[in-house]
Amino acid sequence: MFKIVEREEMTGGTVIRNEIEAPLIARKARPGQFVILKANETGERIPLTMADTNPEKGTITIIYMVVGKSTALFRELKVGDAYQDIIGPLGAPTHLEKVGKVVCVGGGTGIAVLHPITRALKEIGNDVTCIVGARSKDILIMEDEMKNASNDLRICTDDGSYGHHGFVTDVLKEVLEKGDVKLVVAIGPVPMMKFVSKMTKEYNVKTMVSLNPIMVDGTGMCGCCRVSVGGETKFACVDGPEFDGHEVDYDELMLRLLAYREDEKRSLEESGLQL
Ligand SMILES: Cc1cc2nc3c(=O)[nH]c(=O)nc-3n(C[C@H](O)[C@H](O)[C@H](O)COP(=O)(O)OP(=O)(O)OC[C@H]3O[C@@H](n4cnc5c(N)ncnc54)[C@H](O)[C@@H]3O)c2cc1C
Ligand code: FES
Repeated sequence: MFKIVEREEMTGGTVIRNEIEAPLIARKARPGQFVILKANETGERIPLTMADTNPEKGTITIIYMVVGKSTALFRELKVGDAYQDIIGPLGAPTHLEKVGKVVCVGGGTGIAVLHPITRALKEIGNDVTCIVGARSKDILIMEDEMKNASNDLRICTDDGSYGHHGFVTDVLKEVLEKGDVKLVVAIGPVPMMKFVSKMTKEYNVKTMVSLNPIMVDGTGMCGCCRVSVGGETKFACVDGPEFDGHEVDYDELMLRLLAYREDEKRSLEESGLQL
């Protein structure tokens, strides 16, 4: 059993942060890796990235948005309750290299996934500009953490309630125009990663994205997480989740994410849980 030692409701309860006792995972985890969690015996296996780890304390931190039955069930777990199973660390760690000027672009709960990667890129000596976006100020997460993890933080909101009024790509374009960016890391909703990658391709800047297809086993055996990258089939759980953003077939990924929408809706309704 994996006990929750700290819990925070962010953005009015739609996003939850859990710090969980998992000493073996905390000791081995690297930036970019994820875990698969199960709340109870009959629960579904849900992949979530580790937004932070504390090897001394023996804990990992996850930050998730409540979007369906399983994440609504996770929200019921309070401090002192436990997840029945957590497996990990899973996936390939982020390739970290000192390249000079790096731009990290995050949207929605992708910001939580981006946090340890941004911090690690800065720690090895890169000059990291971070551009984060949200629909509005009240649903922006981890502003202080991202400020500390980067050299320069830019904020965008779709409705103009905070920072730049518009999309992350507006600010990214400004930064790319200077011509010194060596690497872009983009993590967030699939359309955001698609448009960031389209822009960076025009500027010929290497771009890494983290993909979130539906997963089941997380160990490369079920084939559920397959994505097309550079015309080849890859399994995001073992070959990724990070890939060259210029090579990903985003439209196929979006279609595959929608494949079970009716079943997901029915499953939430039958559970009696609320979003
Ligand atoms: C490697 C990996 C890391 C992830 N890390 C995080 C994280 O740190 N924080 C976080 O909030 N989420 C993360 N996700 C997404 C998370 O796993 C899903 O939101 C979750 O499985 C939804 O389960 P559910 O039963 O609550 O919702 P469901 O009923 O399964 O789905 C409800 C809605 O969410 C959408 N959805 C379902 N699965 C996914 C998915 N994999 N990605 C995006 N949308 C999905 C569906 O299209 C549907 O609209 C990650 C996914 C992967 C593959
Ligand atoms: S989740 Fe089964 S192969 Fe990746």
